[in-house]
Amino acid sequence: MVLSVDLRAIEQSLPTGMRCIVPVAHDKDTLLLPQQLSDFASMLTSQDFTGKEGQQYIFNDGKTYLVFVGIGEQGKLLPRHVQRPLGNAVRAHLHKGSELAVLAAHIATGDAYTSYLTELVLSSVLATYSFTKYKSKKNEAKEQTKQILLFLEKPTKEYTATVARALEIAKSIAWTRDIVNEPSNATPPQYLAYLLKSDEKNAPFHVEIFDGKKIQEMGMQLVWAVGKGSSEDPHFAKVTYMGNPANKKFVALVGKGVNFDTGGVQVKPDTYMNTMKGDMGGAALVMGVMHALARLGAEVNVIAYLPFVENSVDGGAFKPDDVYTAFNGKTVEIKHTDAEGRLILADALAYASLEKPTEILDFATLTGAVTVALGPKYAAVMGTNQEAMEKLHMLGEEVGEHVWQLPLEDDYRKFMNSDIADIANVSEKRVAGTIMGGIFLKEFVDASIPWVHMDIAGVATTSKGDGIHSDFATGYGVRLMVEYLTRK
Ligand code: BES
Ligand code: ZN
Ligand code: ZN
Repeated sequence: MVLSVDLRAIEQSLPTGMRCIVPVAHDKDTLLLPQQLSDFASMLTSQDFTGKEGQQYIFNDGKTYLVFVGIGEQGKLLPRHVQRPLGNAVRAHLHKGSELAVLAAHIATGDAYTSYLTELVLSSVLATYSFTKYKSKKNEAKEQTKQILLFLEKPTKEYTATVARALEIAKSIAWTRDIVNEPSNATPPQYLAYLLKSDEKNAPFHVEIFDGKKIQEMGMQLVWAVGKGSSEDPHFAKVTYMGNPANKKFVALVGKGVNFDTGGVQVKPDTYMNTMKGDMGGAALVMGVMHALARLGAEVNVIAYLPFVENSVDGGAFKPDDVYTAFNGKTVEIKHTDAEGRLILADALAYASLEKPTEILDFATLTGAVTVALGPKYAAVMGTNQEAMEKLHMLGEEVGEHVWQLPLEDDYRKFMNSDIADIANVSEKRVAGTIMGGIFLKEFVDASIPWVHMDIAGVATTSKGDGIHSDFATGYGVRLMVEYLTRK
């Protein structure tokens, strides 16, 4: 995967001996090419190349290798329109032993151009990601391409910072993808917690880790209940990043870190269990955000609360009908051992609430139902922080990580009533599964703290790579949350 981006000026004599990707927008019938390539316009037009999103035309005279990629109409150009065409062009033309270059026209000015550059870097870098750790035969083109040469019409100093920021975000997304792609036998709870500890060496954040014994002592019975059926001890990590130490206020991020979800004793049937190595997608998202904030030196204060468990089955596993007391003192009747994510989040949310953050956001691969409701492109958001949900929606449209709000309907709370405890972990009515998850979590957040829950079960992974995505982990949400936290 690409690890560095080198900024250069496009010269009259075009780069040779490398594959050059040239994104081309259009303004009505005019193709917006880098000035230095304007001679190609009539040839492209004669080949019916209009700059429409996804169109490709290859020019190769043995010396110069240019891949013209249509990215659509300039006026409607949102960064996310660049992702698929550029990502696919990079994937298709990465070539072993050949350098990769992107040649960009100066199609906008000011912030619009900065965000265009950000998109070019993120899309082309992420398209070179692959997870081949366990393959004897590697994807050599992706593996060997460590650098992109980004040629601009007018490279100025100012753009160096933009490119560096985009590259750090891309690397953090790749880090998150790696965590999710790893099989569960490589990522027990303890390993995930200590992965943050080893990241601490290179990052200005502080990591505290609680093991299973400490988790019990602290009164996080729900985390303990879910984790105790596994031979791998549950762990809890608290990551403190104070990028603005003059201010004591901070945002809390909570993530579901189930390194594998068998369903517990109500075991998942047949292949429904497959892909459950990705059930720590929420925690991995938060880890990627912390990784990025630290490397960007972002002037924000954020504390992450991450419960890590394996939902497995042995004689000590928690069972349906069991009752446990959450960190905030509420009792929970287990009605389904496969609704484990909300249990570990409940303790983490209650613990985070006690520390009085200005707002709390949690991320979880919580329900299969979210894919039924919103499909593979939209994460669901719900909660009490309307302003945050609107900002997330707006940013999501921009960066291509979409969110859609679902209602937290108070009337549905009664479906979670338990005969013997304060609340049950699943609804007696099998309707609105994603909302029920949110309604359960709400009980464990201090009502005075604005809160958002994001269900990413549909978007954290994909069955088939496309554009900037490779197979399985997408790294969804890292970029969205970095923008959310750093853009006021
Ligand atoms: N980890 C699953 C949710 C999930 C399903 C994530 C598919 C990714 C893909 C979660 O723990 C779970 O099993 N949820 C149950 C909840 C039910 C028992 C109320 C579900 O969605 O069926
Ligand atoms: Zn489950
Ligand atoms: Zn789960």
